[in-house]
Amino acid sequence: MIEQTLSANNPLLEDLWAFAKTETLLATFELGLFAAIVQTKTPQTVQDLANQLQVDPYGLKRLLSLLQTWGYVTLNSDRTTVFPTPQTIELLGSATQKAGWLAYATYIRQVQAAWGGLTSTLQHGTPTGSAFSLSEAEARFSHLNEGLRLLHEPLATDLFSVLASYLPAKTAETSLHCVDVGAGSGVWSLPFLKAYPQGSVTFLDYPSVLAQAENSTALAPFKRRMRLISCDFESSSLEWQTETIAPAQVVLIANVLRELSPEAQINLLKKAWQQVEQGGIIVVVEALANDASKPATPLVSTVADLHLLATSFSSTGCLIKTSLVQLCETTFESSGRIDFQWLQSDLFTGQGLSVLMIKRKVFD
Ligand SMILES: C[S@@+](CC[C@H](N)C(=O)[O-])C[C@H]1O[C@@H](n2cnc3c(N)ncnc32)[C@H](O)[C@@H]1O
Repeated sequence: MIEQTLSANNPLLEDLWAFAKTETLLATFELGLFAAIVQTKTPQTVQDLANQLQVDPYGLKRLLSLLQTWGYVTLNSDRTTVFPTPQTIELLGSATQKAGWLAYATYIRQVQAAWGGLTSTLQHGTPTGSAFSLSEAEARFSHLNEGLRLLHEPLATDLFSVLASYLPAKTAETSLHCVDVGAGSGVWSLPFLKAYPQGSVTFLDYPSVLAQAENSTALAPFKRRMRLISCDFESSSLEWQTETIAPAQVVLIANVLRELSPEAQINLLKKAWQQVEQGGIIVVVEALANDASKPATPLVSTVADLHLLATSFSSTGCLIKTSLVQLCETTFESSGRIDFQWLQSDLFTGQGLSVLMIKRKVFD
């Protein structure tokens, strides 16, 4: 016999219904409702919106009511007109933000099915069907990267300002080379391209991801100084031939290691080591699990860890601080040849990211 009745604010009940929030927000993106309500800053009638989006006005009213309880819109008292809240305008007001969030929502829709199979994944230790196949990986990353660009742009600028003190002084002549491993949208090397007018970047990623970078408006002004090389880091015949790429002063590995098998992680770090000049730096950006130095950031560490299992992105999951250092020490063979430093910034930690800088010492 159940002796206790469920109270309305029971946290378990709230958590069990958390999926309803995801579904509601995904529908809002997919119907184009967010785009439509931030388009005009003035109130719109629900009927006009329904006509514009070709949806049933009664359903739309109910959807808007729920969005109102979460602070995304304000409805008038008889629910006939709607306008976005300042929070929604701030989040989605510009065309770039709208495109970025829409791409991110598409990515969430793609990974949702894999999460649906989590029970079975945990029973078998590996995803059993609904997860992505390798051939779908490229398409999945295309959506994810657009979203990450939106989320990480301020962080990348911040990281670059921290890194600048470890790099040669910026002059019109300084021609540094950076290799961006798993570059995605190129968000982490963008501040580098902006700061060094003679600097160049080699992007390494899947071909279709690189095709996106090729067409990116953010990167368009720097095309002449970008080189795109397609490769698969998991493939044993890694196409990334270090001898065809100029030695680099900076190698960026941002949010990539966690996607790879242990062998591929080592392989990749070895390549990075060969690529970076003496005195140069390798920068690893990661969402580390169990990093006690950070406040609880469930999305980017704890959830990401299970996410990698649920979606078969990685057999290892998120790395932890000590294992990342160990991995680098083992890979680079002698810790005497390197200096490690954890870079600090409120922005990184706020997003649950850790940044490890590995300096390759100068040896005669
Ligand atoms: C999580 S995204 C990070 C992108 C970018 N560095 C950032 O932080 O925004 C991981 C990137 O690594 C690339 N990637 C993952 N596994 C790869 C593989 N096996 N071969 C080549 N690229 C891969 C993906 O295409 C994607 O662009």
